[in-house]
Amino acid sequence: HNIKGNLKVVAHRGASGHAPENTMAAFNKAVELEADYIELDLQMTKDGKLVVIHDPTVDRTTNGTGEVKEFTYEELRKLDAGSWYHKKFSGQKVPSLEEVLLTFKGKIGLLIEVKNPGLYDDLHVKLAEELNIFRKEKFENEEVIVQSFDFEWLEKFHTKIAHVPLGLLVKYRVQGVSNVQLKDWSSLVQFINPNKALVTNKLVKKIHSYNMRTMPYTVRDKKTIKPLLDAKVDGIITDYPDFFMNNKG
Ligand code: G3P
Ligand code: CA
Repeated sequence: HNIKGNLKVVAHRGASGHAPENTMAAFNKAVELEADYIELDLQMTKDGKLVVIHDPTVDRTTNGTGEVKEFTYEELRKLDAGSWYHKKFSGQKVPSLEEVLLTFKGKIGLLIEVKNPGLYDDLHVKLAEELNIFRKEKFENEEVIVQSFDFEWLEKFHTKIAHVPLGLLVKYRVQGVSNVQLKDWSSLVQFINPNKALVTNKLVKKIHSYNMRTMPYTVRDKKTIKPLLDAKVDGIITDYPDFFMNNKG
């Protein structure tokens, strides 16, 4: 018996409970821990390269300081994105989206979060172009999902690459989610991914009734799993994919 069943396990910023977030080390760890997806956050460099880092600045997760958009890709690659977490991860770099697609496409699903679309011009065009390049080879259904807190950005992105499934993230501070909103959103997105504190059995039922699915974020504590499973969520975004591994003992 395992608790996983059909549940999609999404490694949040990679297996970020075990390795520095949004690095190749964290993504490799997610594969090792048998996650179904890696979640990753996008920002863009001064020279227009899509890169995988959570914050709009490099301060928290690298040894540098400043805004991502003020670095060229070459400059950004000189930073160490692993040492802040533990010295054994020194030498980890800020990955490009291209590198992540090349390395992981076909090995694990990608849940790409577009973090601060307002900071960058034409991010929707850039991302669509980059995904289109990969689609020419082999781009299976839901191998890549794009999510954002910004519904209007998702609408713009959709006009550039209609076949990519979309997710809308919902913050805890919203005052519930209405039927009208869900109906509206369901015309564009396949996933509503709320803060886990918003999840109730009723909300999940409503999401399902509009033919969408839900993968709440972010599980960091085993105690928070059962209520989500009881509510019948479709996936869980977690720093610890190992919580859901089959017991192979
Ligand atoms: O995948 C959803 C979750 O990652 C959103 O919050 O701050 O971790 O990007 P954050
Ligand atoms: Ca994220």
